[in-house]
Amino acid sequence: MTKPQQKLGRLVKAPENFLVKEDAKSPETMRRKFLAASAASAGLGLAAAAQAASNPVSGKGDPNILNLPEHSTLLGMPVAANGYGLPSKYEKGLQRRESPGLTRVSAASVAFTPLQGTFGIITPSGLHFERHHQGWWDIDPSKHRLMINGLVKNPKVYTMDDLMRLPSVSRIHFIECGANTAMEWGNVAVPTVQYTHGMVSCSEFTGVPLSVLLEDCGYDKKNGKYILGEGADGSSMTRTIPMDRALDDVIVAYGMNGEMLRPENGYPLRLVVPGIQGVSWVKWLRRIEVGDMKWATKDEAVHYIDLMPDGTHRQYTGIQEAKSVITSPSGGQMLLDKGFYNISGLAWSGRGKIKRVDVSVDGGKNWRTARLEGPQHAKAFSRFNIDWVWKGEPAILQSRAIDDTGYVQPTVHQLREVRGTRSIYHNNMIQSWKVAESGEVSNVQVS
Ligand code: MTE
Repeated sequence: MTKPQQKLGRLVKAPENFLVKEDAKSPETMRRKFLAASAASAGLGLAAAAQAASNPVSGKGDPNILNLPEHSTLLGMPVAANGYGLPSKYEKGLQRRESPGLTRVSAASVAFTPLQGTFGIITPSGLHFERHHQGWWDIDPSKHRLMINGLVKNPKVYTMDDLMRLPSVSRIHFIECGANTAMEWGNVAVPTVQYTHGMVSCSEFTGVPLSVLLEDCGYDKKNGKYILGEGADGSSMTRTIPMDRALDDVIVAYGMNGEMLRPENGYPLRLVVPGIQGVSWVKWLRRIEVGDMKWATKDEAVHYIDLMPDGTHRQYTGIQEAKSVITSPSGGQMLLDKGFYNISGLAWSGRGKIKRVDVSVDGGKNWRTARLEGPQHAKAFSRFNIDWVWKGEPAILQSRAIDDTGYVQPTVHQLREVRGTRSIYHNNMIQSWKVAESGEVSNVQVS
């Protein structure tokens, strides 16, 4: 790949939380803030910063290259200063965040992944989204047990030590809450990609295939049609999973991104149910029951159902269909210059691999095919990138994912025709970001 010929445009990052009113109203405020920040870090006045930012080697030259900084001349920090490494202090704005007012208590809430600030396909464990129905716990693994009962010849109780000695697999998968993008069913609701799409993350999970444990307990091959996963938190989280899926690619996982699961994500044990909505990925997993029919528990009969336009509702709609979103440029960001921009985003499908992602900069009239980076994994994130030269005109940026079953991500209009506007779950519509002439990027819905 060669460096683009056009001038490289500068991008003001999205505020790492909701826009404050003054910023949302005035692109000029954001532009000034950006320049003031450049000025402060370079020790320059505003006008000089504006000049330096567009051409850092003009005038008297950039002091950051002319003067040797302390870190080039003195002894640095010792090894193991942080026994467990942390991100740079300059990155502290990148955080999981709770959407204000979404739920009454934060123990039964969501913290969204800042998709606008992550690269590639793996979500750093500390930024993996969180969704708890009744708060999280840091459970002592030496006391944690997994029981398998129901239609099995040998009901068993496993310790963590037992489980970690069994054959293991490691696979990269996305997990998406069925309620991701829920706030956008009726209309535009939240300003940034963190809040429109941040209930999805992608990690490498390690654990024992559920099929190994079911075999070990001698599950009833004739009558065992479903399993029930049960969590050890106070939410009585229980989910039915059909046996063919349970035997296919479900993992009883203890590892995430090369280390033990984080407490927020189910330490020491959780179900990984690739392609299926997050609620079925039962955290703090303590019991698996084999049965001959669906359990229809509260989280299957009352919650996690799709209300259809005719007043009926769909149950057990677990699969997360193909979906994509442009993460940069995205809502709340600001383009400062005309010139070259790298449009980047994420695509995923609960049915398999992403085959193609198309990108439009004119609200869906014309589409170009984006580059898919790296090897494609089934039921995992795909990172896409495409070049774009912004000439200062208003633009509507969209991405459209196509998976290897041929399924095409629908427009908001197509989705609403089938599903109406009163649903909560499984909103996989094409996302639109409007770039105004001022360079401001905002969340819009176009048909
Ligand atoms: N498991 C238990 N035991 N308790 C819970 O509250 N939340 C579920 C699921 N598993 C939940 C649970 C929901 S709704 C989702 S979307 C995922 O966990 C979120 O997983 P994460 O917090 O690791 O992102």
